[in-house]
Amino acid sequence: MRNVTSDVLVAYASKHGSTEKIAHWIGKEIRGNVDVLNVNNVHNLNYDYIILGTPIYEHEPLPEMSSFINRNKDQLENKKKSVFVVSSDNEVRSKREMNIEAFTNIIPGEVNQTAVFAGEIDNSELSSKELESVNSYMNSISKPTGSYSKLNEKKCREYGKSLNRFI
Ligand SMILES: Cc1cc2nc3c(=O)[nH]c(=O)nc-3n(C[C@H](O)[C@H](O)[C@H](O)COP(=O)(O)O)c2cc1C
Repeated sequence: MRNVTSDVLVAYASKHGSTEKIAHWIGKEIRGNVDVLNVNNVHNLNYDYIILGTPIYEHEPLPEMSSFINRNKDQLENKKKSVFVVSSDNEVRSKREMNIEAFTNIIPGEVNQTAVFAGEIDNSELSSKELESVNSYMNSISKPTGSYSKLNEKKCREYGKSLNRFI
């Protein structure tokens, strides 16, 4: 039997770094030739499998992820792919579903697997406008405001491992 190695792309958008970290953890668990790239640095989609990851800001995927998807709609439609989103919290089920839908709604074609991970925020890095926005979101889900780190490397790696069955 021929041993075929798949080419896999993990393409992420990230403003404050948590989605980038998660993308690299996932990439480490994938078997194959893996590129982990910011969407701004993706120049072709010559891959057998694609994993797309974005944080949610103000209920939406980051604009650079949305425009990446938009400009590659036709190619992405027929690719095998999975996605993940990163948000301030992944405990509230209704919000988890809302966040993943905000992303899958803009993705053409089928998606094999989805995941929602909690990220991290250092409030000292945020502008006053960003602070107001994130605080209002945290109030809306009855969670405390303030800096947080809810990254869970093990869960992210497990998700990466689980994708090998599709690749
Ligand atoms: C200005 C601002 C707005 C946010 N809005 C939301 C939101 O609407 N929903 C949500 O679940 N998380 C929201 N978050 C939390 C981020 O998605 C989370 O902190 C994520 O880890 C950021 O990813 P990044 O570090 O890759 O940029 C917001 C964070 C900031 C700073």
